Amino acid sequence: MIVEPAPAKLNLALHVTGRRADGYHLLDSLVCFAAIGDRVTLTPGPLTLTIDGPFAAGLAEVDADNLCLRAARLVGGQAALHLHKALPVASGIGGGSADAAAVLRGLARMGHPLPERSERLGADVPVCLMGLPARMQGIGEVLTPLPALPPLHLVLVNPGVAVPTPAIFARLDRRDGPPLPPLPAFPDAPALIGWLRTVRNDLQPPAIALAPVIADVLQALEASGAQLARMSGSGATCFGLFPDASRAAAAAAALARSGWWAVATELAPDPRPR
Ligand code: C5P
Repeated sequence: MIVEPAPAKLNLALHVTGRRADGYHLLDSLVCFAAIGDRVTLTPGPLTLTIDGPFAAGLAEVDADNLCLRAARLVGGQAALHLHKALPVASGIGGGSADAAAVLRGLARMGHPLPERSERLGADVPVCLMGLPARMQGIGEVLTPLPALPPLHLVLVNPGVAVPTPAIFARLDRRDGPPLPPLPAFPDAPALIGWLRTVRNDLQPPAIALAPVIADVLQALEASGAQLARMSGSGATCFGLFPDASRAAAAAAALARSGWWAVATELAPDPRPR
């Protein structure tokens, strides 16, 4: 049996810089991964999918379109897949893409080559396959790995509204945002936070227009001491950056009292040798 973690993806910044002829949007995004996520286990055998975990109810095991099954079919993979769904579904932190990438990584360990164009499964699948902090451009397939980011204390908050990604992109006022400014190697969290204040998530205003509770989440994060609060991806999950683990834990506990999913975490450990 093979176990593959599927860490939550965070867009610390996301600029929409253009649009392709096929309607997909060109992005420039700083992506990193959190120390929490889903988990996929693979056992050799015919292709099947079972799901458990706190957010399993949002997904149907019999759905042939499930990204885990589509990922396996893309490489002809034969395995019984089990998905432990710990992340909220359709929430801007990569859930489905992270799961698909975990399936592909697991199948690669079982001898199936990785697909050449994994973005066909979803624009976030290539960066999830790479699993490193990265600058993500194109529609998600142009990746530049970045040096390890400084340690960050994060709180992730999801208010329980599923926001449909295509509707968010469709509501953008402008699609000609500037590229991200140069990305230096960040020596520490304050340097990274200073840089993050100069950039934004262009999908945040249209997401707030569709789901105003996202503005409440961002305000609540700031009121509970976040140095910076922003939405990830097309939402509705938001992240707050905190100066230390105990303040992040206290904020997560307070925010969970609003009935929101709120967890304190940090960046996923960088797999590269230092
Ligand atoms: O690739 P994914 O399935 O995550 O994308 C869902 C939808 O989001 C697409 O059908 C498209 O409408 C929109 N999208 C986009 N530009 C991107 C990524 C997604 O317009 N770079």
